[in-house]
Amino acid sequence: MTMPDVRVNGARLRKTLEEMARIGGTPGGGVQRLALSDEDKQARDLFVRWLEELNLEISIDEMGNIFGRRPGKNNDLPPVMSGSHIDSQPKGGRFDGILGVMGPLEVLRTLQENSIETERPLIVVAWTNEEGSRFPPAMIASGVWAGALDRDWAYQRADIQGKTFVQELERIGYRGRVPARKFPVHAYYEYHIEQGPVLEREGKTIGAPRGIQGLHWYDITIEGEANQVGPTPMEGRHDALCAAAEMILKVNRLPEKMGGNMVATVGEIHNHPNSRNIIPDKVRFTVDIRSWDDELALGAWKGLKQDFKDIAGSRGCPVSIEETWQVSHSPFEEALVRRVLDTAGELGYSSLKMVSGAGHDASYMNQIAPTAMIFVPSIGGRSHVEVENTTWEDCEAGANVLLHCLLKSANEG
Ligand code: GLV
Ligand code: MN
Ligand code: MN
Repeated sequence: MTMPDVRVNGARLRKTLEEMARIGGTPGGGVQRLALSDEDKQARDLFVRWLEELNLEISIDEMGNIFGRRPGKNNDLPPVMSGSHIDSQPKGGRFDGILGVMGPLEVLRTLQENSIETERPLIVVAWTNEEGSRFPPAMIASGVWAGALDRDWAYQRADIQGKTFVQELERIGYRGRVPARKFPVHAYYEYHIEQGPVLEREGKTIGAPRGIQGLHWYDITIEGEANQVGPTPMEGRHDALCAAAEMILKVNRLPEKMGGNMVATVGEIHNHPNSRNIIPDKVRFTVDIRSWDDELALGAWKGLKQDFKDIAGSRGCPVSIEETWQVSHSPFEEALVRRVLDTAGELGYSSLKMVSGAGHDASYMNQIAPTAMIFVPSIGGRSHVEVENTTWEDCEAGANVLLHCLLKSANEG
């Protein structure tokens, strides 16, 4: 079958992304649109308005996931779906997530104005709380939707102020009535910035990940003994922050110790009471371990956990550990990955098969439907920062690949 001569409107996609970037826009040129915040609500409202303008069938489920469905010629066939997330990191970038929601929206606009029908229905989806920065873990709502995570457990996840997911979902008016429950999906494509340096380094426009590495999240709490820093001798102290410092360096050295093929990070730390003249009596920090090799990551964690216990013992600072979340590595459907690469080639774009270092809702979608992703380059390999950037030309290229991948999948009988 020859490819229809249709392309997305790059200028419109840019305008749409720029309008979204104003919601929660930061002085440093990024966005702060934490999950279920007022800014998240504002961006959702705008997205829903745009879905309404296209006369899509809109549904919002009990996790706040937003679906816009465009009927096909044969609505008994399972739909083809594409989406990503609207929430951002604190002081995050203008592309992470939102490109993968505005991209398929632009595809549907393009199909509408060209009166192109598809055999199967097409659905654009915005998943709630992909980042997990405010309500850990990440990808919580696609996880519930896919049946991998429990809804009521997700509802009770709390932010740093103790506000729960469900309270905040109610507050912003996005606790829908539709059950967050998977239905048959013919294919799922997620369009995203790469968030790493590979495409730029290799001079390629389109990345097709063969999958996503596994993610493991842990929450560590250390108890110490507070005291006046001046009169209290150094010996005999139970300084929770010093114990944390030792543990954090163990995390940082873990990938090298395990022979590579993994990354490990402490990104969040809370020190109590956080006063320069009080010995810290409580520290909480997070651990993020990622690898394509699930066994390696689990083995690494086992050793690390023992190191934490040893450090806690030697400093007299009891440690408690929550194994918060694990998602195994996700190898994507080979045929769909190939389709992304082939489609890029047919459109005249260079491409590269790679691995996704970042987590995506595609991990959970991959558990229930054939899944693939489309990546475009991140300038300087920077992401989760205000300077995150991708050229408009590349945004348009990725959306064109998405358009034709969606057309191909949606016209399969
Ligand atoms: C999600 O953005 C992640 O990779 O942590
Ligand atoms: Mn993302
Ligand atoms: Mn992200």
